[in-house]
Amino acid sequence: MRIARRAERIEPFYVMEVAKAASQLAREVAATDRPMLFLNIGEPDFTAPPLVQEAAERAMRAGRTQYTDATGLHALRERISGWYRQRFGLDVPARRIVVTAGASAALQLACLALVEAGDEILMPDPSYPCNRHFVSAAEGNAVLVPTTAAERFQLSADKVQANWGPKTRGVLLASPSNPTGTSIEPDELRRIVDVVRSRGGLAIVDEIYLGLSYEERFGHSALALGDDVISINSFSKYFNMTGWRLGWMVVPEVLVPVVERLAQNLFICASTVSQHAALACFEPDSIAEYERRRAEFKARRDFFIPALDAIDLTVPVRPDGAFYAWADCSAWCDKLGIAGSWDFAFEVMKRAHVAVTPGRDFGHAGTSRFIRFSTASSMDHLREAVDRLREMAP
Ligand SMILES: Cc1ncc(COP(=O)(O)O)c(C=O)c1O
Repeated sequence: MRIARRAERIEPFYVMEVAKAASQLAREVAATDRPMLFLNIGEPDFTAPPLVQEAAERAMRAGRTQYTDATGLHALRERISGWYRQRFGLDVPARRIVVTAGASAALQLACLALVEAGDEILMPDPSYPCNRHFVSAAEGNAVLVPTTAAERFQLSADKVQANWGPKTRGVLLASPSNPTGTSIEPDELRRIVDVVRSRGGLAIVDEIYLGLSYEERFGHSALALGDDVISINSFSKYFNMTGWRLGWMVVPEVLVPVVERLAQNLFICASTVSQHAALACFEPDSIAEYERRRAEFKARRDFFIPALDAIDLTVPVRPDGAFYAWADCSAWCDKLGIAGSWDFAFEVMKRAHVAVTPGRDFGHAGTSRFIRFSTASSMDHLREAVDRLREMAP
């Protein structure tokens, strides 16, 4: 069968190979005193809080399960707008908010609406692999720009300027980032957006981890920089609703009808039950619960990052958000005679029964020196993982 070139261009998610091997081994060691610890999975170990679950049940029982508008339930767009006002002091009108099937659908809609075949979109190396694939699915080209620890593994205005070519259409940033958990310095982000504007380009900022921000300096939305910035967000991470497949995007007003047309055709709407449930995310009791969980994620970071540093799995930039640790395993690889982080991930899995994600999926710039740990696991699991790693330290 002839496969379309755009499908062929999507690279496999290598992480899944590691995840498959981890699941296989997990079955074998389940009954031992060292069951597998999964620090490879980028999703909260919490589930939707009670009010959200109850709202979902009520919606199902009452038969409120028909399609919604392609842009989402009006009440939900209003609640999200209220969230921007309350949390970020920003006036983001509901009419600029489009509810989507997760950030993934929002990113697809943004790319399909704005990227022409052959357009180039700049993004940092390392970054979330699917982001470059959304660009290539729209027949654009993701240009991965190598970043350094000094840049917090994020693009800088100078690099955007230096890499802007005749085909460049814009930038796709994630702040805080997956895999590093680091955000762009606010002044740098302002400068990046200025460069993009001066080139007449697009600034798409994936803010899916913004709710899980641990430092006042970084916890601000890029939407404060102007109505031309496109922000992508989700109920997956801060709101702990990964499998409910719900997210949103904030777009300039002129783009709403374009995105709406695409969404009508491609998705009809996001899950209706999930949308009704998500209304309850913004109730004071739910927010209080989410804030307790955010404090727990921060406590895990505060334990885990120094613990890794202490065993020479150095985390070059302390994450200020999300639930990841981007750790340099090259010192261990040298001492253990291991070629790089891909083999290292398998070694750690086999010897310590700890599943981690090798850097390979996230880019090419030195990623074979890095592994990504997810700290979206209980503190007990994180402590146990550190103990096991310490035991195998060279
Ligand atoms: C940076 C980033 N963007 C987007 C997504 C997709 O999330 P969603 O579940 O909202 O589709 C993820 C998921 O891990 C992510 O890490």
